[in-house]
Amino acid sequence: MESAIAAAATAHPGVVGEAVGRQHRPGRVAAEAGQPAAAQGGAGARVAPLQAALLDDPVAFLSAEHARQTVLLGHLERVACAPLGRAARGLAAMLLGWLTAELPIHIEDEERSLYPRLAAHDASGVLPTLQARHREDRNAVGAVLAGLRCVAAGEEPDGDFTAAALAFVSGHRRHLALEEEAVTPLAHRVLAPEALSALADEMARRRS
Ligand SMILES: [Fe+2]
Ligand SMILES: [Fe+2]
Repeated sequence: MESAIAAAATAHPGVVGEAVGRQHRPGRVAAEAGQPAAAQGGAGARVAPLQAALLDDPVAFLSAEHARQTVLLGHLERVACAPLGRAARGLAAMLLGWLTAELPIHIEDEERSLYPRLAAHDASGVLPTLQARHREDRNAVGAVLAGLRCVAAGEEPDGDFTAAALAFVSGHRRHLALEEEAVTPLAHRVLAPEALSALADEMARRRS
């Protein structure tokens, strides 16, 4: 299923949202995540936020966010391996925006809006596994953020940054693959139009 994510990322290289959105309703995420990279020399690596028009299909929106997250994890891997590299400062600023402003909203979408609507249909028990993974990510991300703040300031991060960031990357890649393999097809199969509409409304409110 990683191939599905990779295919989406390839189809929309670095700018997934620009390819899927038609009516631009810029939100808080766009303002916070897009500008620091450009301001600090990372404009070439900018990964545009998804546009809210895609919320007409909230399951597709979450899937497209997964594709975008795959691109961002590639950037995090680059910064982890070369924190003093030429583009690292701009990338670090962009990644800080993703990890502190955007990813928490995505996780809230899943834990408070999507998973509860799927729980009665979760025959495989994958949802508790994914929620546990969210908790692990929350615990693990502190060392990653500390290192990224150093890199964004042009300073060398602590010695444990590279290992912490690479562990986060591999763990989150597995998480995305499992969600695309198990959750996205389940959501497409069981969510009725009324449930999809309510899900879309809740997700839109988080981005207003
Ligand atoms: Fe997700
Ligand atoms: Fe998740």
